[in-house]
Amino acid sequence: MTANKHQPLHTFVDLLGAEIRLRMGNDPARDAAHRRIFGNTALAETQASGERPQRQPACGYLPACFAELEKRGGNLGKLAAALREIEPHLNWNNQAERRKSPALAKNYADSFIVGPGGFVPSDDIQIGVSVMAPHTTYPDHRHPPEELYLVLSQGEWRQNADPWHEPGVGGVVYNPPDIVHAMRADAKPLFAIWCLPLDNTPH
Ligand SMILES: [Fe+2]
Repeated sequence: MTANKHQPLHTFVDLLGAEIRLRMGNDPARDAAHRRIFGNTALAETQASGERPQRQPACGYLPACFAELEKRGGNLGKLAAALREIEPHLNWNNQAERRKSPALAKNYADSFIVGPGGFVPSDDIQIGVSVMAPHTTYPDHRHPPEELYLVLSQGEWRQNADPWHEPGVGGVVYNPPDIVHAMRADAKPLFAIWCLPLDNTPH
């Protein structure tokens, strides 16, 4: 196990916090979630195992997702460039067993960038990235921590039995604690970053 400072990681988290803040609109719940996630980003050092990280078939969609964002430029382009540098260090999972959805094994991949067991260990926050093949649905699920997504591609999101909606590139989705939610890719791969506070402080 070696530990090292990782500049692209810090650039990535700083840009991510700023972009979500800019794009999330005026809403006290989102504001409180953002503060709990990004209010104290004194990150630990990265943990590189020295082994080749695990990848998944859906990781094959990443280069096109990065290229699309870098072509757009601006802060989303910079965010993608930082993530492209971090990506070779990340361990990817497909959640097929956890979500009881065999289709995810070939069509979905996610990775914890920050969080318990992540590239940067943290017990306070979780920041992860998902990539999903076209025409794939990530099924309904729920979790006690609230969640902020930064959407980086086409694709649709849903809460409870509400209609599906398309936030668009740069859109922010807020999931209150324990709400049932899902996402699905249309003709393009879905690409998104999600952030959860893991502390139990009242908010
Ligand atoms: Fe979720």
